[in-house]
Amino acid sequence: MEDLVQVLSKLPHISHPDLLVGNGDDAAVYRINDQTALILTVDFFTPITDDPYEFGLIAAANSLSDVYAMGGKPLLAMNVVGFPADLARDMLGDVLRGGYDKAAEAGCMIVGGHTVDDPEPKYGLSVVGVVEPGKQVTNAGAQPGDILVLTKPLGTGIITTGCKQGKTPDDVLKGAVANMAMLNQSAAEAMMKVGVNACTDITGFGLMGHLRSMVRGSHVGARVHFGPVPVLPGTWDLLEQGVAPGGTHRNLQAVADTAVWHPELTDQQQLLLCDAQTSGGLLISVPAHKVDALVSELVAAGTPSADIIGEITQGPEGQIEVVP
Ligand code: CO
Ligand code: CO
Ligand code: CO
Repeated sequence: MEDLVQVLSKLPHISHPDLLVGNGDDAAVYRINDQTALILTVDFFTPITDDPYEFGLIAAANSLSDVYAMGGKPLLAMNVVGFPADLARDMLGDVLRGGYDKAAEAGCMIVGGHTVDDPEPKYGLSVVGVVEPGKQVTNAGAQPGDILVLTKPLGTGIITTGCKQGKTPDDVLKGAVANMAMLNQSAAEAMMKVGVNACTDITGFGLMGHLRSMVRGSHVGARVHFGPVPVLPGTWDLLEQGVAPGGTHRNLQAVADTAVWHPELTDQQQLLLCDAQTSGGLLISVPAHKVDALVSELVAAGTPSADIIGEITQGPEGQIEVVP
């Protein structure tokens, strides 16, 4: 059986002078004229909590995040919905209301959408945003000597999986939901104010998987310091009980060709850095002389974290060294 990467690699390679960013980044960027480029993205997934309104908030924040990761401003969005015909319609109403409320907070209008009958509920948005051409921040611009800054703590995959197993305390889940529902808007604004070299948002492939795309795209290496990596409260207790999503384990296997783990790092610490996130923070690669400015802007903007977790290295190209 072919995996998804193999299938996608056989599709025609799309290029065009006005296509400023194509496949392989958080979103595509297309230049309309010298002032305006469009950012296009789509994202949807299955429920991660039992509360339909919260699911709507989180799914919308997650979908909007790919526009923020490019340094853009979301303008318009469409609902993408799969919903079982027999499930209560007011539940779908709650999901959509969550999406509308989150989009409104982002100053983005939801102007339509499409629903299919689906035994497993799914929700997300396709989003159109704008950025000044040339000002878009890609995952391919990281430079040796850059500092890596992360704007949200890790652990949402472990915490929501623990919830499905009845192991996550209510207050821990509450913290994770607030984290996932938070927009990356102020983080993106801070990043654009300072000017940075590269950015990506941390979602399903985890910190290590998304950093791998960054170092490969940028033809550089990286070093991650485990100590300062921010972690959501309650995550460690769950990890010690053996809680981690299947996707997190797969992420860890997938970075085996990329990660060089310091021998002191435990299996749990490695898993945490690979935890599949939902609506995670921005991972920003900023020139060293601007890092203080970026951290103060992020702190002033009230992002959940503004932690320096590593640096970009000359290489070996595509390699991520992880030290305690
Ligand atoms: Co993304
Ligand atoms: Co995405
Ligand atoms: Co239609």
